[in-house]
Amino acid sequence: MPVVNQPSAARLNRGPLLFRYIDDPEQYRIERYLEHGGYTALRKALREMTPAQVAEMVARANLRGRGGAFFPTARKWSLMPSGVFPRYVVANADESEPGTCKDRQLMERDPHQLIEGLTLAAYSVGAEQVYIYIRWEFEFAAERLWNAIREAYAHGFLGKRILGTEFNCDMAMHRGAGAYICGEETALLSSLEGRRPEPRLRPPYFPAAKGYRSLPTALSNVETYCNVTHIVREGPEVFTQFGREKCPGTKLTCISGHVRTPGVYEIPLGVPLREVIDEWGGGVREGRSLKAVIPGGASAPILPPDRIDYPFDFEGMIEAGSMIGSAGVIVMDDTTCMVGAAMNLVRFFEHESCGKCTPCREGCPWLSRLLRKIEAGQGKREDIDLLLSLCDEMDGKCFCLLGESAIVPVRSAIQHWRHEFEQHITEGRCPFGDGAY
Ligand SMILES: Cc1cc2nc3c(=O)[nH]c(=O)nc-3n(C[C@H](O)[C@H](O)[C@H](O)COP(=O)(O)O)c2cc1C
Repeated sequence: MPVVNQPSAARLNRGPLLFRYIDDPEQYRIERYLEHGGYTALRKALREMTPAQVAEMVARANLRGRGGAFFPTARKWSLMPSGVFPRYVVANADESEPGTCKDRQLMERDPHQLIEGLTLAAYSVGAEQVYIYIRWEFEFAAERLWNAIREAYAHGFLGKRILGTEFNCDMAMHRGAGAYICGEETALLSSLEGRRPEPRLRPPYFPAAKGYRSLPTALSNVETYCNVTHIVREGPEVFTQFGREKCPGTKLTCISGHVRTPGVYEIPLGVPLREVIDEWGGGVREGRSLKAVIPGGASAPILPPDRIDYPFDFEGMIEAGSMIGSAGVIVMDDTTCMVGAAMNLVRFFEHESCGKCTPCREGCPWLSRLLRKIEAGQGKREDIDLLLSLCDEMDGKCFCLLGESAIVPVRSAIQHWRHEFEQHITEGRCPFGDGAY
């Protein structure tokens, strides 16, 4: 068993909001968090604001969920049916999207920021119980969070009659068992209830309406809740000074792959993707050129270099032909075999398919087998069209977005690099050599 007793090593920047104190080694302790203005937002909300006013502030900031879909957070809260109690707040800390490692930094280095945001959300929606569903592998983050929750109880920020008001709120942490599907919100809730982590049918199982134990549940990503803390503490104007009108704020962006300075950076939304790669990522490796970039984790379409001048936000990345997703920016230079890259991504989905629906359970291994065959130089010309027709068969027919995501790298790789697939077939080998992905 490895001893995990320090934060993960990652290159980070001091950012304007969520990463303001990220490099302060004591920020995880409540005393330091309080010195830096911690829990003033909760104090302000409980003493001076109604629950509706908190939601209104989040709506004015136009906070959109950072779990991938960018759905407006306050709108999600408003979809919880009135008069149905108890209700719950859940943080999605499963963070399993390949290329994504931002929530981990928040939980390891600044856990009270999350606890405060969750408590504010609970106050706003009328919940008295909060769950943090954390990925199993985040052992150190879980330890830090657990200690932080205990500190928050000891200081009266959690528990009964918080800060002398009528508001009660308990917080518990649940460790997942290490499966990608647990990040899908309905599968997460099944797992939290002690069932198999399989997605649920929507409707009726929209978490806001029928969530944990079929009761109203506000479920959002860790980064989303951390933003709530800043919006309430400093006002929506501080948040909206970053980004574009439709998609304000900053984004914790994880840059990996063939760049000089990979890391997790807090970046204002809306800067060109090129700047994300060149300024924060330090550009591609010495002497190499950019070949491809995935802007939003494994589920986002792969982009060629002529698509990187679009703004790095929800709308901008759609315009570019991809999506911002979890903002896991994976950069590939000209040494990369795109057949191998697609194969690598599909193998992930194949491994993680929960097996509940046939298109995903059968389709992912089939795609994977075909890609392995082509990559090894044993493919036939008709295999490329077979791949595409398989994607068509799976499209819109999988039970959840996991299976739908598996077709994304295949389609985008064939769309932009079909010649490489053909080259593998005509040459009977990978032109880039073994393992060039
Ligand atoms: C297969 C799959 C995996 C997902 N994994 C995560 C995850 O690890 N973390 C996360 O916040 N959202 C994940 N999501 C998205 C969640 O279902 C949900 O939309 C999100 O947590 C909502 O948070 P937000 O409103 O803050 O964006 C995943 C979705 C799918 C389909």
